Amino acid sequence: PLHTVTTMPTERQPGCPFDPPKELIEAREQSPISRFPFPDGHQGWLVTGYDLTRSILADPRFSSRKELMRHHPTIDYGDIEVPPAPPGEFLLMDDPQHSRYRKPLVGKFTVRRMRLLTERVEQVTAEHLDAMEKAGPTADLVTAFAKPIPAIIICELLGVPYEDRGRFQENIDKFLGGEAGDEELIAAYIATQQYLAELVAAKRANPTDDVLSDLTDSDLTDEELQGMALILLSAGFDTTANMLALGTFALLQNPEQLAALRADPGLAEQAVEELLRYLSVAKQFYRIALEDVELGGHTITAGTTVILSLNTANRDPERFPNPHTLDLHRQDGGHLAFSHGIHQCLGQQLARVEMRVAFPALLNRFPTLRLAVPADEVALRPEAADIYGIKSLPVTWDA
Ligand code: HEM
Repeated sequence: PLHTVTTMPTERQPGCPFDPPKELIEAREQSPISRFPFPDGHQGWLVTGYDLTRSILADPRFSSRKELMRHHPTIDYGDIEVPPAPPGEFLLMDDPQHSRYRKPLVGKFTVRRMRLLTERVEQVTAEHLDAMEKAGPTADLVTAFAKPIPAIIICELLGVPYEDRGRFQENIDKFLGGEAGDEELIAAYIATQQYLAELVAAKRANPTDDVLSDLTDSDLTDEELQGMALILLSAGFDTTANMLALGTFALLQNPEQLAALRADPGLAEQAVEELLRYLSVAKQFYRIALEDVELGGHTITAGTTVILSLNTANRDPERFPNPHTLDLHRQDGGHLAFSHGIHQCLGQQLARVEMRVAFPALLNRFPTLRLAVPADEVALRPEAADIYGIKSLPVTWDA
């Protein structure tokens, strides 16, 4: 039987900020794969089942190439030409092009390397908690905590000088946040590219101790390095920030789980995996069939766009019993929040270190942390944003 989802939902259910839109949950209950007619008339597919999502992510017959991604799930752009990804922007390339860029980076983001960063993450976290405590009670957890910590760490890794950070972060926020108007967005994007070009030139002239300087010692061109830096920044800023803010919100709304984590800091590793699964802020990606593929009893014909709903797949009851319950003691790993296959998140060990440090440190510093507004007044990102999350999270505590 062929199940069809006619439009991509643009909102979540009121009062359920952590759950994928109910239309997607219902689609998965019908079938792990549904037909999805795009607004421009393209007949695509929507995948919501865990097993099928995972197998497509690992299947080289499905492409991530930017120039093939011509259909938008909510906007009719008509018959447009999409240029290929610029040099270095390997998230939207297939192998072998993709591995030219990913390979030299892998060794810089290993578990061991990221563990060495733990102390620095602890320091930066403590500094932000100090500042928050001093200025409060009441704070916006997004601006005081969730955004600056991952931003500082990724800037340090890349070697962005301290004095450039403010302006730089502002521009990145604008073009990733889904809030800026078109003109502002384009201006912020251009400013970021210009800055990265200057940064690459500076690292070539005067290499320092950071990932970007290390990469200048290779056959990668300036343009390629600039593209790689852009991917690292855009992937590393916004995702972790939204996990920290939304994760805190989810814990505050699940007081028993919050108490369990507070009582046992040893639970942090498991808790972070469960929050990743439960929230899945990087909620959906696209793949294009390069040839006809038989899947789940259907033929995906060459050239067809497939939407992979990672957040719905991470709520598949056949893989995760009671999937809509946040259970920090959950043992069944294997969530897809960092994707799977050749594009599986390069920065996942860094993100894990940041979250394993930051959540317990926050809870420890503020034993009475709570929302400063009713939960239904917390300003969430629109469902149209690529990364789900929170605009601001007003919190307070007993001084
Ligand atoms: C790729 C999620 C943090 C760097 C990805 C993908 C996902 C993801 C789902 C794969 C997309 C696809 O399959 O097409 C997340 C989440 C994060 C996070 C949920 C935070 C909790 C980071 C950080 C970095 C980073 C901190 C910084 C270095 C990258 C890069 C890629 C990537 C470079 C592209 C990999 C490739 O195409 O080979 N991330 N990410 N991510 N991520 Fe992350």
